Amino acid sequence: MSGHRLSLLLVVLTALVALTTAAEYNVVDYGARPDGGTDSAGAFLAAWGAACNDTGRSGSRPVLRVPAGNFLVSRAYFKGPCRSAGVDVVIDNNSTVFAPPAVDSRAWIMFHHADGLAIRGGTLDGQGQEYWACKKAGRCTAGQGPRTLDISQSKGVSVKQLTLLDSKEFHMTIFDCTGMTVQGVRIIAPADSPNTDGIHASHSHHVRILNTTIGTGDDCISLGPGTSDMLIRDIKCGPGHGISIGSLGWQDGEEGVRNVTVDRAVLKGTTNGLRIKTWAMPNSGSVTNVSFSRVTMNRVGNPILVDQNYCPRKVDCPGNSSGVQISDLSYTDIKGSSATPVAVKFNCSGTNPCSGIKLKNIRLRYRHQRPAQAKCQNAVGSVSGEVTPPSCF
Ligand SMILES: *[C@@H]1O[C@H](CO)[C@@H](O)[C@H](O)[C@H]1NC(C)=O
Ligand SMILES: *[C@@H]1O[C@H](CO)[C@@H](O)[C@H](O)[C@H]1NC(C)=O
Ligand SMILES: *[C@@H]1O[C@H](CO)[C@@H](O)[C@H](O)[C@H]1NC(C)=O
Ligand SMILES: *[C@@H]1O[C@H](CO)[C@@H](O)[C@H](O)[C@H]1NC(C)=O
Ligand SMILES: *[C@@H]1O[C@H](CO)[C@@H](O)[C@H](O)[C@H]1NC(C)=O
Ligand SMILES: *[C@@H]1O[C@H](CO)[C@@H](O)[C@H](O)[C@H]1NC(C)=O
Ligand SMILES: *[C@@H]1O[C@H](CO)[C@@H](O)[C@H](O)[C@H]1NC(C)=O
Ligand SMILES: *[C@@H]1O[C@H](CO)[C@@H](O)[C@H](O)[C@H]1NC(C)=O
Repeated sequence: MSGHRLSLLLVVLTALVALTTAAEYNVVDYGARPDGGTDSAGAFLAAWGAACNDTGRSGSRPVLRVPAGNFLVSRAYFKGPCRSAGVDVVIDNNSTVFAPPAVDSRAWIMFHHADGLAIRGGTLDGQGQEYWACKKAGRCTAGQGPRTLDISQSKGVSVKQLTLLDSKEFHMTIFDCTGMTVQGVRIIAPADSPNTDGIHASHSHHVRILNTTIGTGDDCISLGPGTSDMLIRDIKCGPGHGISIGSLGWQDGEEGVRNVTVDRAVLKGTTNGLRIKTWAMPNSGSVTNVSFSRVTMNRVGNPILVDQNYCPRKVDCPGNSSGVQISDLSYTDIKGSSATPVAVKFNCSGTNPCSGIKLKNIRLRYRHQRPAQAKCQNAVGSVSGEVTPPSCF
């Protein structure tokens, strides 16, 4: 090969590398300190600003890199829209980002209008202990305030191999997002930590939660109003309150929940299993086309539960029948042990009975040999295959 052709080849190769190598924005280069004590929020935000503004070369996406180490971040609000076609937030597996332990009522890490965002690796530690103590002492009010990771108003987001620890309240909230994948995520908090739900989604569509392990003090996964086309698969849940749709019907005119699949899950020691919950209020709403399949229960309270008479304080529910219409629920291949004598319960609305419930191959027992029971009210459905306890249809 002639020297001329060789140098031409080198030029072409260099250009190819430049085309395909993404620009990197390392938070340490923006002043972040991996010492666990210096507030690095400003550096994280500066690195985000630069990455988000990187129009990139064709085919490359800017990388926001968090290297190994312990980083204290007081609060970070990562705002788009970005000029880049998304940002890859790559957190080293040996990196932990810590929230300040002090009681706070706001969200900690937020990504808003961040289309094409991809987060992977690392640990976000919410350091919730002080806040939980405050709540238990009745000094901090309940709410949806200090969540760890809030992703809102974004399309095409992915969150992979991330660990979320000890959030003050909800670990991850998904609001007004379309086309999102959560995969290989671990969420861990003590069983007695209040309101530390794993993942809560609302007003979002085409969200997939896959291969994820969640053990907290509240729902592992909960879906709120306006969620549709959701796929929840390969989930390990417990301790916690199970997988939940609701509570719905708190306000009138709420958007419904539609086309939800929960497939392959193992629930262990949770206070509820697969639950749909609506307030005992006349507000309208709907839940339709929900499928639960291949779920194993291990000492789970209320493994299959529809509760349309939810009203914990009794005084908030002037009309005591829910206006939310529940239809087309299917439960297939659900087995294991119930921690409550009633393993299957459909407590539906008197004014809007549940319709189209299908049970197929259900084997739930209460403790050891004792058969579990089923109870139904205002529910219509059908059974096929072996169904124990025998259902009320
Ligand atoms: C992008 O750059 C513009 C102008 O340089 C600046 O005003 C804007 O804040 C930057 N965006 C982000 C997200 O930092
Ligand atoms: C994490 O740290 C451990 C021990 O310090 C080391 O053996 C391992 O290779 C590191 N892993 C990564 C992904 O950096
Ligand atoms: C980080 O850990 C995940 C598993 O949690 C693994 O899939 C991924 O390959 C690891 N990344 C690196 C760079 O080691
Ligand atoms: C599920 O996640 C675990 C831990 O992150 C990983 O080791 C495993 O390979 C993943 N499995 C699949 C099917 O993605
Ligand atoms: C239902 O949701 C699944 C995702 O779980 C999606 O693939 C499918 O297209 C949706 N069906 C309809 C009719 O929207
Ligand atoms: C109902 O759910 C199933 C999956 O269980 C999905 O394939 C189908 O597209 C859904 N239909 C509608 C109308 O959402
Ligand atoms: C609520 O329930 C009670 C009895 O359970 C009944 O007497 C009363 O009429 C109900 N109220 C409404 C508004 O449905
Ligand atoms: C349904 O819930 C109401 C209110 O909590 C309760 O009074 C009723 O006994 C329940 N029905 C069944 C079948 O559990």
